[in-house]
Amino acid sequence: MTTANIANKVRRALLWMGILLLPLLPGHLPDAAAQSLTIYSGRSKALVEPLIKKFEQEHGIRMNVRYGGSTQLAVALLEEGRRTPADVFWAQDAGALGAVHRNGMFEKLPDGLLALLPRQLHNSDGTWIATSGRARVMAYSTVRVDADQLPESIFGLADGRWRGRVGWAPSNGSFQSLLTAMRLQKGDDTVLQWLRDMRANNAQSYINNSAMLQALAAGEIDIALTNHYYLFRFRETDSGFPVDQTLFAPGDVGNLVNVAGIGMLSTARNKEAALKFMQFLLEAENQEWVTREVYEYPVVDGISTETVDIPLSDIQDMSPDLDLDNLSDLNRTLELLRRAGLL
Ligand SMILES: [Fe+2]
Repeated sequence: MTTANIANKVRRALLWMGILLLPLLPGHLPDAAAQSLTIYSGRSKALVEPLIKKFEQEHGIRMNVRYGGSTQLAVALLEEGRRTPADVFWAQDAGALGAVHRNGMFEKLPDGLLALLPRQLHNSDGTWIATSGRARVMAYSTVRVDADQLPESIFGLADGRWRGRVGWAPSNGSFQSLLTAMRLQKGDDTVLQWLRDMRANNAQSYINNSAMLQALAAGEIDIALTNHYYLFRFRETDSGFPVDQTLFAPGDVGNLVNVAGIGMLSTARNKEAALKFMQFLLEAENQEWVTREVYEYPVVDGISTETVDIPLSDIQDMSPDLDLDNLSDLNRTLELLRRAGLL
């Protein structure tokens, strides 16, 4: 056999080996070995299922989702500890993420991922990132309220002129996070007094924000403490919905910007898939989808905010300056609500 022949044979053998080994290379893994990711989602199924399905299709990663309330899932994670099957926790509230972080259950995220977001949109230890923004606003009747007369501060709503005219939702998670922020800024005593004053001023309690906006349109109340996106959802079906919304004076705690966000458990079995999912949620088209469909604020730059009126960065300038991890101290807030007879 000539040297040329041998070289040919070797080349052919290598070629065949290459073809045979090809299915074993990454990207050609058989389905049986497909990756999976377990998510605890405090975001509702109706809201996020389309995104989760899209991720499954784009990345071939099977998703196991446990849906629940954000606080309830945070409690479950703390109870399960290192035995938790969850790879990631996606919450609709920074307080729930902060509670898991403070128990040391999240892994520090790669700098490259954190760098995709403005500094205030991940926690200072870099263990969770925001996926969308949700601002507290004051919604008001365009029929019965003159916008110029609205109070400068949320504390002004206990004034006698608003007697019986203000709606709130004491059992709502977003409202409770706002109360926690108020406690951090003004102290527990001031907030307890405000709750009592509001109650004495005949503030009307609603089961949730949608019911409250309906009551606002129906004339039961004139002002509602709510999240910014409800009004946009009502306008979808009724462009003449007789409600508008505004912020309090710059820096007032009533303008709290809360976030939905996500962190990866340090015990996650599939960290690569977890990080892929986080990155996916920050991709422009997925951020655009959330803003368009759910009216929450995008957290990365360059996304159109046409549907939500004011860019998040502007609202953040109006928002109180506080570390969102600190919103995790919910127990004291619930205690104040109970002491004021509101829960
Ligand atoms: Fe909500």
